[in-house]
Amino acid sequence: MRKKIVAGNWKMHKNAAQTEELLNELIAKIPAETDAQVIVAPTFVNLASAVNQLKSTAIGVSAQNMHQAESGAYTGEISADMLTSVGVKTVILGHSERRAIFHETDALIASKVDTALQHDMTVIFCFGEELKDRQSQNHFNIVENQLKDGLFHLQAKDWEKIVLAYEPVWAIGTGETASPEQAQEMHEFIRETVRKAFGSDVAEDVSILYGGSVKPDNAKEIFSKPDVDGGLIGGAALKAEDFVAIVTAI
Ligand code: 13P
Repeated sequence: MRKKIVAGNWKMHKNAAQTEELLNELIAKIPAETDAQVIVAPTFVNLASAVNQLKSTAIGVSAQNMHQAESGAYTGEISADMLTSVGVKTVILGHSERRAIFHETDALIASKVDTALQHDMTVIFCFGEELKDRQSQNHFNIVENQLKDGLFHLQAKDWEKIVLAYEPVWAIGTGETASPEQAQEMHEFIRETVRKAFGSDVAEDVSILYGGSVKPDNAKEIFSKPDVDGGLIGGAALKAEDFVAIVTAI
């Protein structure tokens, strides 16, 4: 069933003490009656303690990345088994910062998706066009290709573990957000693209999150659109007050 989800991608922010402090604030402030699934993605080194701190709450924990191999000589990398062994069952893959700064390709991301699914993890799959793509009216093509190259080798049943996060690169960390109409237009296109390949059940059930400068003052309008099932939040996830306001907006 399609779920409402608000996930906070903390990126490379918050040390151990700050992580504990922010989580305590979220535990205290997120209303128990919210019908959204709330997820936080602290950095690798704070995942185990976050899982521990949140174990009697409904707040989930996600990693921000992982390596595609089971194990091996990959200095500095983290495997799916390492994540699940500390209780992390969700991973963000394909974030535009991984694609742009760390040169992750669609093929690499697809292999990370496979590894995550083999470990029964949920994948928050990020994709979205750059400003130049939108300016040249190529944004639908780009998004369709990222989806196809990253996920269309899967079986219909695998989609139970997939959450889509449409994040137009020009809206990330810029303060410039897609308008609710732009978000809806793209989310509808994404759902239609999934429908053509995997059928209506998969398309109706998959949650499609919007990410890119979601703030307390624009969240409600974006989330009100029928194909927007929640948000992947960067900057505003680092302040309890803002993140809680965004969770409440859904
Ligand atoms: P901002 O909310 O800071 O624009 O970041 C969005 C994002 O990249 C979430 O993954």
